[in-house]
Amino acid sequence: MFRLKTAIITGASSGLGKEYFKLLTELCPDIEEYWLIARREDKLKEIVSCNPKVKCLVLPLDLTKNESFDIYGQKLTEKKPDVVMLINNAGYGKLGDAVNIPIRQQTDMVFLNCTSLTAITLLTVPYMKEGSNIIQVASIAAFLPIPRMTVYSSTKAYVLSFTKALRRELKKKGINVLAVCPGPMETEFTSVAEIDGKSTLFSILPRCGVREVAYNSIIKAKKGKAVYTNKTIYKTYRIIAKLLPHNLIMKKL
Ligand SMILES: NC(=O)c1ccc[n+]([C@@H]2O[C@H](COP(=O)([O-])OP(=O)(O)OC[C@H]3O[C@@H](n4cnc5c(N)ncnc54)[C@H](OP(=O)(O)O)[C@@H]3O)[C@@H](O)[C@H]2O)c1
Repeated sequence: MFRLKTAIITGASSGLGKEYFKLLTELCPDIEEYWLIARREDKLKEIVSCNPKVKCLVLPLDLTKNESFDIYGQKLTEKKPDVVMLINNAGYGKLGDAVNIPIRQQTDMVFLNCTSLTAITLLTVPYMKEGSNIIQVASIAAFLPIPRMTVYSSTKAYVLSFTKALRRELKKKGINVLAVCPGPMETEFTSVAEIDGKSTLFSILPRCGVREVAYNSIIKAKKGKAVYTNKTIYKTYRIIAKLLPHNLIMKKL
């Protein structure tokens, strides 16, 4: 059976995911089909209609639901793609003390940021060959616990840890796994997280360009790197988080 070289992107309807799609179509002419996953089908279809020459499969799935993994798994069985790039990008955060944020919003966050990323990865790996890439979108929030983003920072620490260990396991298959840890980007993330005007720290942190993050992480993945963080300030933060006791740094947040 002829297997199409395929890229799969979760959270492709906006922000970083949408940018990954745009960039891959420009940088990787060998990719024959794209699977775009998010809840908002209209947004995905709009993105596809702007790229009429690119073969796309729109999968409107809510990744906080177990049934979505069944639908995704069935699609893989049916189409048997040759997945050359998997980008697990769907995710969200919420700002506030954990005890004050509705529990469902936080358990869904854990499910989307951790469970769905794990399920999509493990379902897809059997369809990947030597030389293929997995990009897992974490955050600088993965480097140490962040009060008022307690659940979010914990989910991203999971993503980073899962990525590092899986990377070792998949080395023998020749599949590279990269964790991307961006600083704040101007996307819908801010409004979903209800951060606007509520966090002095977030408002003063330097912004990372969405295109720059997407472009550099694709290049780093292709070079076989393990972790990508942009901007000197966030690279330094990562080193500090490795060297100093977390309690000490958390007092300054
Ligand atoms: N922006 C930042 O400051 C920042 C910084 C570091 C890391 N990140 C990470 O970057 C990734 C992308 O975020 P972004 O900044 O591009 O924000 P965004 O514009 O809000 O994008 C989030 C994407 O996730 C999808 N999504 C949300 N809930 C979903 C669900 N239940 N099922 C399926 N898809 C779902 C959204 O699509 P639908 O709403 O259509 O479902 C959307 O496409 C996230 O993992 C985020 O944690 C963001």
